[in-house]
Amino acid sequence: MKTQVAIIGAGPAGLLLGHLLRAEGVDCVVIERQTPDYVLGRIRAGVLEQVTVGLMARLGLDARLRDQGLVEEGFNLADGERLIRIDVASLTGKTVVVYGQTEITRDLMEAAPGRGLQVIYGVSDVALHDIDGDAPHVTYRKDGADCRIDARFIAGCDGFHGPSRKAIPAAAAKEYERVYPFGWLGILADVPPCNPELIYANHPRGFALASMRSPTRSRYYVDVPLTERVEDWPDDRLWDELALRLGPEAAARITRGPALEKSIAPLRSYVFEPMRHGSLLLCGDSAHIVPPTGAKGLNLAASDVHYAAEALAGYFRRGDGDAIAGYSARALARVWKSERFSWSLTRLMHRFPEDGPFERAMQVAELDYIAGSRAAQLSIAENYVGLPV
Ligand code: APR
Ligand code: PHB
Repeated sequence: MKTQVAIIGAGPAGLLLGHLLRAEGVDCVVIERQTPDYVLGRIRAGVLEQVTVGLMARLGLDARLRDQGLVEEGFNLADGERLIRIDVASLTGKTVVVYGQTEITRDLMEAAPGRGLQVIYGVSDVALHDIDGDAPHVTYRKDGADCRIDARFIAGCDGFHGPSRKAIPAAAAKEYERVYPFGWLGILADVPPCNPELIYANHPRGFALASMRSPTRSRYYVDVPLTERVEDWPDDRLWDELALRLGPEAAARITRGPALEKSIAPLRSYVFEPMRHGSLLLCGDSAHIVPPTGAKGLNLAASDVHYAAEALAGYFRRGDGDAIAGYSARALARVWKSERFSWSLTRLMHRFPEDGPFERAMQVAELDYIAGSRAAQLSIAENYVGLPV
């Protein structure tokens, strides 16, 4: 098979890129290891920046998002005693939208056939070839047959564990990593949220987050040591812990219910440079990971894809190679700022095992500063709604 851009991975990054390229008249094919049901079964974060909402709107795929998404004008930091509200809307004039990543993926997946976007699910043994030159190709197996896609470019949208990043020679790359000494234990339940706006809490017992998917579906998290297993946390224990960490006011409004999903996710900050090597462009989790504090993962994937689609469309429409050459630097400039925000919010809101009284005093001072400073709140708010692309 021959195409202009071979896209590896049909997560949000790969599907969004495929749709944007099709809208620009660029030929592309997406290949995905899993089945559609498996991809839709993954529960991830659900807070969308305006850039992400804007891309769905530009594609005309935002009907469900507009109908079901919850527009949020602020969020809260809890320091054990009080709620510090960050009034995002009045500080920045912008809002975020709570809409599950699963739903974005579903909207993109369901619209693919009607937009002429070919997505091949259930492929195995994906390998990238000749990425140094201008005629790369991808090989894979599907239903027992060997297959090959020849393309001008390959877009590596295959997440943290995919083969794309690994195809770039180590000598041409640099990795930055911070692994955190805890994970987030999350619960999804069909109960009304305890608060209309998100609450991130730093409590002596540890971190907690109250989030939601809809007026009748809640998503909560606590941080746990990496040695814990989900089996250690029956629903009642988790609800008890959430009530303690979120504080009495929120606890009084928590409705408990059976877990629809419960899992532990480790926290990591990771950046791979460069995000382009020869004819291979990396987008989303294949190039970087943020800890979930601040919900930047999906939004960063969306901004990468925005830059990549612009560069690729410029190349095929005008023969402009400069945007391709500049893709990595342009994407990384935004990636690093989101990495910084996610890392600093993680640092502020978690009790690290290695912290002593000084580090704790710094957290108290910073939260107190944020509570009393419009400038500090504005800085948090502009990062939370998303920096411009
Ligand atoms: N061959 C084909 N597809 C693959 C391969 C492979 N060898 N390896 C991984 N994939 C697929 C995965 O099955 C997955 O569907 O690539 C896709 C990558 O999707 P995500 O992991 O969701 O990453 P991305 O699209 O970059 O999304 C970034 O969304 O998933 C969240 O946590 C993520 O919030 C972040 C954002
Ligand atoms: C979620 O709703 O799952 C969520 C919200 C905010 C975060 C992380 C996850 O920072």
